[in-house]
Amino acid sequence: MTALEKIATRPFIRTGDVLAERLSGPDVLELDQLYGNRDLLGGLDILGVAGPFYAVSPWELEDGESKQYINASGYAALPFGDMPPALRGFVKDYLQSSRAVGLPQQSASPWRAALGANLVKLLTSVLPSHADSQVFFSSSGTEAVEGALKFAKAWRPKAKHFISFSGGYHGKTYGSLSVTPNSEYQDVFRPLVPGAVTSPYGDLEALRTLIRRLGPDKVVAVIVEPIQGEAGVRMPPPGFLSGLSALCREHGIVVIADEIQTGLGRTGHWFESAARGMDPDIITLAKPLGGGMSAVGATIVRAKIFQKMLSGLSSKRHSNTFGGNALAMAIGLKSLELLIDQDLPTRSRELGMQGLAWLRQLQHLYPELIQDVRGQGLLLAMQFHPVVGAKLPGALDGAMHEATVLLAVRGLHQSGVMANMSLSNKRTVRFTPALDIPQHTYEELLERVEHFCEAYPRAGKLLSATPPMTLLKLGRLALK
Ligand SMILES: Cc1ncc(COP(=O)(O)O)c(C=O)c1O
Repeated sequence: MTALEKIATRPFIRTGDVLAERLSGPDVLELDQLYGNRDLLGGLDILGVAGPFYAVSPWELEDGESKQYINASGYAALPFGDMPPALRGFVKDYLQSSRAVGLPQQSASPWRAALGANLVKLLTSVLPSHADSQVFFSSSGTEAVEGALKFAKAWRPKAKHFISFSGGYHGKTYGSLSVTPNSEYQDVFRPLVPGAVTSPYGDLEALRTLIRRLGPDKVVAVIVEPIQGEAGVRMPPPGFLSGLSALCREHGIVVIADEIQTGLGRTGHWFESAARGMDPDIITLAKPLGGGMSAVGATIVRAKIFQKMLSGLSSKRHSNTFGGNALAMAIGLKSLELLIDQDLPTRSRELGMQGLAWLRQLQHLYPELIQDVRGQGLLLAMQFHPVVGAKLPGALDGAMHEATVLLAVRGLHQSGVMANMSLSNKRTVRFTPALDIPQHTYEELLERVEHFCEAYPRAGKLLSATPPMTLLKLGRLALK
């Protein structure tokens, strides 16, 4: 049957069928592969981690065979896990009662107004200099970064360089990709936005030298993650961020703190940049602001910089259709309320200390499996030794690193743990459980990680215990 014939014979899929889970797991996977990112889902399927999964509680998922997993994945975007009752109940109320315009592009909106006001209030509690800051809303992290880069450029129109850091991750649309120095993501798309330059993360002297070489007047902005997430939770050395902030201030260079992964409690603070002595001009937020239910990006900008780009007749110079929509803003407002009411940054900090100590102990017990553990709050990382001890030539070596993380994710999955890969560090998994995960579920999670270590006490075992057919299929996919 041709693709067209297949489509013609398939009935229109109705919402009721999806709601009632009448599409079987294999059907979901097949359709999603057919019409979505086929090779990504194909790879996950080979590893046995493709799902679909359904929430049995906010912190636990189950697959088609009713096997349950504790969710430590979600790429730091699930502050309350999946389908949290408090947010679900609120959305019901919203749908029933709110009369606010859904897409308030040409009018004021109570939900957007409330969320913007609260974000600035929260920020000023740690950085009083932001009292008159303004917020631009969007629908993803990468879009929040695009906004930040444009605000900065409009503020310093004669300058042309954006400095970002090795290992940094800021998103995959053209602007944010240009400041994400990862050749895997960048190379096919060159030329990128001109003027992006990379400096080694954590090296203040190198930054100083680079700014001097480029000419301070020629640098638009420096963009930095207070803790690098996708790089596998890389911590900045003491003094790096505060020094960066002071250096840029000296030259009038805009400082952008990308808090999309670290912000709003994940690392144990509302704003990690502020906790580490920065006073950034622009802060980007996204992931947790949507409460795991909606897409909310926010770019918080000092008033003078905001006004330069969006002033008078130019106030439409940067805009979007869906940013600030009422449902997303309402969910954002409720998410912020839940984070504040439960003081989740403090909880994250405490659980993080317990988790890091546990992982350190595992590293001590399994030194041939675990090379390093890092983390702060509920942003925890475990880095593995390569699955092949010897260094392999060129691309093969890269593939071995990739295989390491894939097989580790597979092994953890078999132990009942969903973990994140790290996009820019191929031998590291990250654990980012919900900030409100119950204590006993968290301890169960750590125990399951321990069971995984017992099952794979050496990195090589991740490879030797994988069925040859699985490896063959993975190899075929990698060579495509
Ligand atoms: C620090 C940081 N910036 C930007 C992004 C991009 O966000 P999104 O995937 O919502 O576009 C991410 C996503 O992982 C991130 O961690």
